[in-house]
Amino acid sequence: MKSSTNKPHADGELHHLFVDELRDILWAEKELVKALPKMAKAANDEELAKAFTMHLAETKNHVTRLEAIFKSLGLTARSKKCPAMEGLLKEADELSEDYKDSSALDAALISAAQKVEHYEIGTYGTLRAFASRLGYDDAVKLLTETLNEEGNADKTLTKIATGGVNEMANA
Ligand SMILES: [Fe+2]
Ligand SMILES: [Fe+2]
Repeated sequence: MKSSTNKPHADGELHHLFVDELRDILWAEKELVKALPKMAKAANDEELAKAFTMHLAETKNHVTRLEAIFKSLGLTARSKKCPAMEGLLKEADELSEDYKDSSALDAALISAAQKVEHYEIGTYGTLRAFASRLGYDDAVKLLTETLNEEGNADKTLTKIATGGVNEMANA
């Protein structure tokens, strides 16, 4: 094995890609801080509103963790517009509007929110693998904490959907 394979390359392409994707998800998390209160307000189901509000608190922490990662790399926490999250949130807005008077509103909100969570899970899983490859141990730890919270948020939404919200939408 070549001795260089396990060493971090702070100026290599993987490092650049890692930082690029960090900027993308920082933008996404900041948009979610704005979107989640709207989703909590729109939700009819109390448990769903509570889940959105709880995840808002976690999401604020996701921003803080990303800022800590930038700091650990000696970089300024700059965000870069994420067209994927912009699209997912536009879809969430459209669904909220289209179903505002429907018994399926909460099911629609959950469907939009789970797409967001899955985007985040995909991104954080990739970022953690990159950080691990690059030997950025602080980042691995912080990304794991966030990844676990995204996974739990997704599971909570599934529980709320199958625990009554989907049935209500079908009534
Ligand atoms: Fe997040
Ligand atoms: Fe999330």
